[in-house]
Amino acid sequence: MNLMPPRVRKAVFPAAGLGTRFLPATKAQPKEMLALVDKPIIQYGVEEALASGIDNIIIVTGRGKNAIEDHFDVSYELEKILEEKGKTDLLQVVREISDMIHVSYIRQKEALGLGHAVLTARELVGEEPFAVLLADDVIDAPVPALRQMLDVYEATGASVIAVQPVPREVISSYGVINPSPDQAPAGRFAGPIARIADLVEKPRPADAPSDLAVVGRYVLTPAIFDCLERTQRGAGGEIQLTDALRMLARREPMYALTLAGRRHDTGDKLGFLQATVELALKRADLGEPFRAYLRALKP
Ligand code: G1P
Repeated sequence: MNLMPPRVRKAVFPAAGLGTRFLPATKAQPKEMLALVDKPIIQYGVEEALASGIDNIIIVTGRGKNAIEDHFDVSYELEKILEEKGKTDLLQVVREISDMIHVSYIRQKEALGLGHAVLTARELVGEEPFAVLLADDVIDAPVPALRQMLDVYEATGASVIAVQPVPREVISSYGVINPSPDQAPAGRFAGPIARIADLVEKPRPADAPSDLAVVGRYVLTPAIFDCLERTQRGAGGEIQLTDALRMLARREPMYALTLAGRRHDTGDKLGFLQATVELALKRADLGEPFRAYLRALKP
């Protein structure tokens, strides 16, 4: 008997948020297009999906997000100019982006939250398992974060939620899991896995069931759509993905994988700056002079 669960082929990127935390930079530019070093934030997530074996990308957009579509499209004018000037390196960089993937876009017409954004992608996803990546969370890891999760999905056929421990003072910014004492399936995974008994969105520190915070990566069975349909507005008056996951965890086994890797919260200004510095330091072309510059900075 072949026990291999259906393959995950599609990745959904909710990108309809207003990006108010980065105003005025995001007044006329989507936050997903802010550059970390020289690449827009969303491209890090798309590259992670590709490196994990998923090349069917669904981006849930809203008003004012055209720059995302232009970014992943062919730019004839730019390619022509680079070609004429003989800038073959840059031409390759630009071409790789549009050749990279098959992208579909769907508009989330109302800002009703992350759960609603995922539900908006239902028609494009269909009745198959899929991944959700929150582009704000940039995860720098030797094995791509989504690949780590797909390894658990392929071994279990169950939904997998990425988590990392966070300090209690910041726990109320996250969805938090309540791990079940039940034994998790055996296997060689990138980090510890636990069965999820329950989840709660943005609890007060005193009410947090653990220190394991949901970071923005999910592998979900299509049963999540039925749960999302039934989910009422929750925290912040929004339809929360976490609330639908709670429902799903009661119906089917669901696992949390503690990701191996460095997560940057680029939706936060300090996190954005830290990501910029750390990613620049790792670059072959910039690392050395940038490190020397930082060392010479006077406190
Ligand atoms: C969302 C989710 C939350 C998760 C977080 C990870 O919250 O609702 O459960 O922990 O992403 O970044 P947001 O950051 O959109 O408020």
